Amino acid sequence: MESKDNEKKKLKLKVSAINEGTVIDHIPAKSLFKVINILGLDKIENQITFGTNLDSKKLGTKAIIKVSDIFFEDREINKIALIAPNAQLNIIKDYEVVEKKIVEIPDKINGIVKCFNPKCITNHEKITTCFNVINKTPISLKCKYCEKITTAEQIRMS
Ligand code: CTP
Ligand code: ZN
Repeated sequence: MESKDNEKKKLKLKVSAINEGTVIDHIPAKSLFKVINILGLDKIENQITFGTNLDSKKLGTKAIIKVSDIFFEDREINKIALIAPNAQLNIIKDYEVVEKKIVEIPDKINGIVKCFNPKCITNHEKITTCFNVINKTPISLKCKYCEKITTAEQIRMS
């Protein structure tokens, strides 16, 4: 058994510490690139480092993303709750973790998810989906356009 300290050091070596910014930790390994997409990290100029398939006690494997000099709005970051419900945000200032936050599923979801109803207009025209979240665990979404419910098992990302 490795000590927690050793594990920490190894992780820090794999993805080095940042000076200022946001560390998004405990992302399911398979969801790394989806999170990058949802947050639009592929379109910004800031320094970003990330690692995936790292060992995690909680998840088995996990991914981590470190974005320098960006502090996200809660609204922005909560978008990832659907695909990374256990994600944890660490706000870093002057190399120290000054705040930890967990993501929370928002009350409304625009885009990201497809409506499960094959007849829904959002599946036939270029219309961004829009759902009211009627239950958070397990997640259940009501489409604004067709009023049909998309459940946790039916969720597909658009
Ligand atoms: N981190 C970083 N740069 C810093 C400080 C921390 O990239 N200057 C990263 C660490 O590598 C870690 C995360 O931010 O992935 C949280 O740091 P910390 O709270 O020190 O680690 P843990 O105690 O392991 O956090 P937790 O148990 O909440 O996962
Ligand atoms: Zn619909």
